[in-house]
Amino acid sequence: AKGAAMVTAVAQRLASQRKEIDDTLAAFALSPTQLQEVKAKMRVELERGLKKDSHPTASVKMLPTYVYRTPDGTERGKYLALDLGGTNFRVLVVKIRTGMRNSVRMYNKIYAIPLEIMQGTGEEYNMFTIIILYKLRNCISDFLDYMGMKNTRLPLGFTFSFPCNQTGIDKGDLVCWTKGFKATECEGYDVVDMLREAIKRRNEFDLDIVAIVNDTVGTMMTCAYEDPKCQIGLIAGTGSNVCYMEEMKNIEFVEGDEGQMCVNTEWGGFGANDNIEDIRTRYDREVDGGSLNPGKQRFEKMTSGMYLGEIVRRILIDLTKHGLLFRGRITERLKTKGIFETKFLSQIESDRLALLQVRSILQHLGLDSTCDDSIIVKEVCGAVSRRAAQLCGAGMAAVVDKIRENRGLDNLEITVGVDGTLYKLHPHFSTILKDTVRELAPNCKVDFILSEDGSGKGAALITAVAQQHYTDKQE
Ligand code: GLC
Repeated sequence: AKGAAMVTAVAQRLASQRKEIDDTLAAFALSPTQLQEVKAKMRVELERGLKKDSHPTASVKMLPTYVYRTPDGTERGKYLALDLGGTNFRVLVVKIRTGMRNSVRMYNKIYAIPLEIMQGTGEEYNMFTIIILYKLRNCISDFLDYMGMKNTRLPLGFTFSFPCNQTGIDKGDLVCWTKGFKATECEGYDVVDMLREAIKRRNEFDLDIVAIVNDTVGTMMTCAYEDPKCQIGLIAGTGSNVCYMEEMKNIEFVEGDEGQMCVNTEWGGFGANDNIEDIRTRYDREVDGGSLNPGKQRFEKMTSGMYLGEIVRRILIDLTKHGLLFRGRITERLKTKGIFETKFLSQIESDRLALLQVRSILQHLGLDSTCDDSIIVKEVCGAVSRRAAQLCGAGMAAVVDKIRENRGLDNLEITVGVDGTLYKLHPHFSTILKDTVRELAPNCKVDFILSEDGSGKGAALITAVAQQHYTDKQE
């Protein structure tokens, strides 16, 4: 009888532990109704961003890009491209050739941006920006030396993957730094002007900066070069963002009603007006609070690679506190910010991986796990990344339905060009994203194609298109 009582006690404890874990993860499971609501709210914010009155305060900023069309295949020439978006800076030479088959050739060099520069030392905001641009200028100088090109003056496209308020294809006031870049205040000068000034001061080489480009736009352009149906660009990587071709007449704060212009939505900012608080969990709030930009980029913090691992870590700490994981011991390692990179989430969630391998990944991260632990960790990762993919899908459904309505169509066929490690490397993210779009936008047939180096190629293509545009205008 005693033995039976003990078995019952153990069974009860296991059941209550299971319930605690399930309850914790339930907050990450979004119902179809909740996803519909996210889509509807995103749609409202897209509209608010486009309207003159609400644009200045909109959470989804809907920034104009002055890119009026996608490539048509006649683009050619040799360009310089710069790419600043994550932790690296790249300088490239891009040659676009037309002929029987279009081809693009590239040469590039990668430079690391030291962490102490990215996270500043409390400098005043514009000082921070200047320091970064001076660093970039020195890298460009090194690259031109390396290529033996100091005396050529190539047209240049600058992929700068941060929100910029553009008033022309080569004019962009930085709205604020996002992702891994820390600068306290958010009020910026023209990044292109500042880079030109930095180059002038070195007085050693000359560049013709033609375009400043968001990475989403570069991605869309690169994919559109292969597939003319591509009119949307998506990044699901360190950050999360979308751009798409909008009707000029709907972009109220830009002069002109004819034709189209690509809009950089900056949807990472969605949620700034507290309209998705119902789906944010306490873990999302903790991650936000501990981030470089508290209160900002709330949607991005639920959907992009830079933050998903952090959400997972916060949940694991909580479960450990409640004695449900790691034998209840919170190690220093687990307390370390940033230990779970996207790469690890992708590995842990891979279906091909045996649990033993999950344990060895955790071991590698300095976390001693039992077999049960590894099952739970995998569940946590799955819940967090699934929600991320569904939220992106809901946002995308809002975008494609808007485009469909813009064109007065019952059905729309459209292609999305995609880049980013989360989309490319995670075993389930892309599938869940696509399924969600299909469910929430049943009247749209949406294809997704991968972009190859949208930031480099795209910058060159935009530069080519921009040059054609202005030559056409002058003729
Ligand atoms: C961040 C930036 C945005 C960029 C995205 C993807 O959301 O604000 O400009 O497109 O990351 O890199």
